[in-house]
Formats: sequence, structure tokens, C-alpha cells
Amino acid sequence: MKKYGLIGYPLTHSFSQEYFAEKFKQENLENECIYEGFSLPSLSDFPALIKANPDLCGLNVTIPHKIGVIYFMNQLDPAAKSIDAVNCIKIVKKRPIDAFFTGEISSSEVYLEGYNTDAFGFEHSLKPLLHKHHQKALILGNGGASRAIAYVLGLLNIDYRFVSRQGKGKNYSYDQLNHEIIEEHTLIVNTTPLGTFPKIDECPDIPYQYLTKWHLLYDLVYNPEESAFLKQGKAKDAATKNGLEMLHLQAEKAWEIWNS
Ligand SMILES: NC(=O)c1ccc[n+]([C@@H]2O[C@H](COP(=O)([O-])OP(=O)(O)OC[C@H]3O[C@@H](n4cnc5c(N)ncnc54)[C@H](OP(=O)(O)O)[C@@H]3O)[C@@H](O)[C@H]2O)c1
Repeated sequence: MKKYGLIGYPLTHSFSQEYFAEKFKQENLENECIYEGFSLPSLSDFPALIKANPDLCGLNVTIPHKIGVIYFMNQLDPAAKSIDAVNCIKIVKKRPIDAFFTGEISSSEVYLEGYNTDAFGFEHSLKPLLHKHHQKALILGNGGASRAIAYVLGLLNIDYRFVSRQGKGKNYSYDQLNHEIIEEHTLIVNTTPLGTFPKIDECPDIPYQYLTKWHLLYDLVYNPEESAFLKQGKAKDAATKNGLEMLHLQAEKAWEIWNS
């Protein structure tokens, strides 16, 4: 049996667990693969978890371990390195004899490769919606997910500024946002959790009255499907996109990585 799983804390509702259970059912893999949630309050218990589960082939990583888990990786892919966050781990078992022949100086039989599939999910769900006029973006929120978004916007040559409650350094604060700034930044990405169920009436405090049909509002929130942020964009004829496709794409990318 190949085992996959999710580490995080606290692990409440898990999209990944449901997604992979359904995938294994659909693809007749139920007798070959299993997906488990591992509630891990402290990363100091991570090595013991790997040791206690020798059939683990891959892990997803969620809050609060996306940054700390990097310390345990033997290898990082370029995106994870730039973003400085890992949300997908491939667990490779190497017999010492293999390591001898590849010339690796490692006594470890378990080799951990760190990836960031949030970036992949965002890039591939955003690209089809982009037009020439999407040259500048605002990233609302300055947390873990915003780093993957900034990385992708950099790859796509889209200038971006963060909007944060603190508004320190080059970041805008919400009360600095005016007509000119909103007009100039036609891509606005919400990376704050505002509007997530059950607090569905909440939304980032931006001047929505300046939005136009030229704007694209992208919300990482996927529950509800249409957040208050997206509703306000729609009311001004802006294009909108929720975080559901990104979520599916990052999960499928993880599956591809684990099986490559
Ligand atoms: N669709 C997907 O595939 C996907 C993938 C990853 C994450 N997500 C979602 O993206 C969201 C953010 O994830 P994350 O890991 O970056 O979370 P996080 O580390 O908690 O960061 C969220 C950021 O939002 C801002 N924020 C938090 N509460 C706020 C409030 N009450 N008012 C205004 N700003 C607030 C904060 O930035 P400032 O303090 O700088 O303002 C904070 O750093 C979550 O809802 C998560 O579920 C979706």
C-alpha cells in the first residue's frame, strides 16, 4: 500500500484528504493507495513521523509548517527555494547501495524533496485570464500564500505591490489605496482569508467603487465559490476568479510529482 498524507496543525476540514480519497475511488486505486491526515503540533516530531510510516511516498504541507519543514528537505525545487515555502514533499527511498553508485554522500535512506505546487496552481489558473492591460497587480495580504503569488507574478513580468494592514516599506496600507492606484493596478489578488466560510460577508477593505471592466479580481478563497470580494468586482463588471481551480491544480501537480 502506498501512503500519502497531509501534515499541519490544527487539521480541521481538509480539502486534500477528501480530494485524494475521491481520486483513489474514481481511479480504482483504493486497494493500492491511502491518504491520511497527520496532525503535527510541532515539527520536531516530523522525523519520527517519517520513520513511523515507512510506506509514505508523499506529503502535502499546510499551515503552520510550510516554511519550517524546509529545514528537513534534502533537496528543494527552484520555486520552493525562491518562495521559501514547501507545500509538497516527495519521499524517495534510496537503498545505500544506490547512493553509492550515484556518488551521493548521504547515509540517509529516506530522501525528501520539497516543492511548491501553490505557485503552479496559481500560474496555470491565472494565465488564461490575462490580457495585455494586466501589467500591474496588487497582492492583498502578506502571509505565506502571498509569496507564491508574488513569485508567479514575477515570472509573468507583472509588476506587483503588496497591500498589508501594516503598510510597511514598499507595501501599501489599505487606507493609501486611491482612485489612481486602483486604476493603475488592473489585477488584484486577495491572499487574505477574509470572506471564507462562515464569515462570508467579510472582504478586504479596498475602494471597490474604482473598479472597472478592465480589472481582474482573483480570490484565493474558494469557499464560498463567490466571495464578497468577487461579488463586488462583478458588480463593477470586472472579471473574477476564485481559488478552486488553483486548489485542484496544486493537488494534481503533487500527484504528478509523487508519481514521477
Ligand atoms: N486556492 C488555493 O489553492 C489556496 C492556496 C493557499 C492558500 N489559500 C488561501 O489563501 C488564504 C491565505 O493563506 P495564507 O497561508 O497566506 O494565510 P496567512 O499566512 O494567515 O496570511 C494571510 C494574510 O492575510 C492578511 N490578513 C489576515 N487576517 C486579516 C484581516 N482580518 N484583515 C486584513 N488582512 C488580513 C495578513 O496580512 P497583513 O497582516 O500583511 O495584512 C496575513 O498575513 C487562506 O484563506 C487560504 O485558505 C488558497
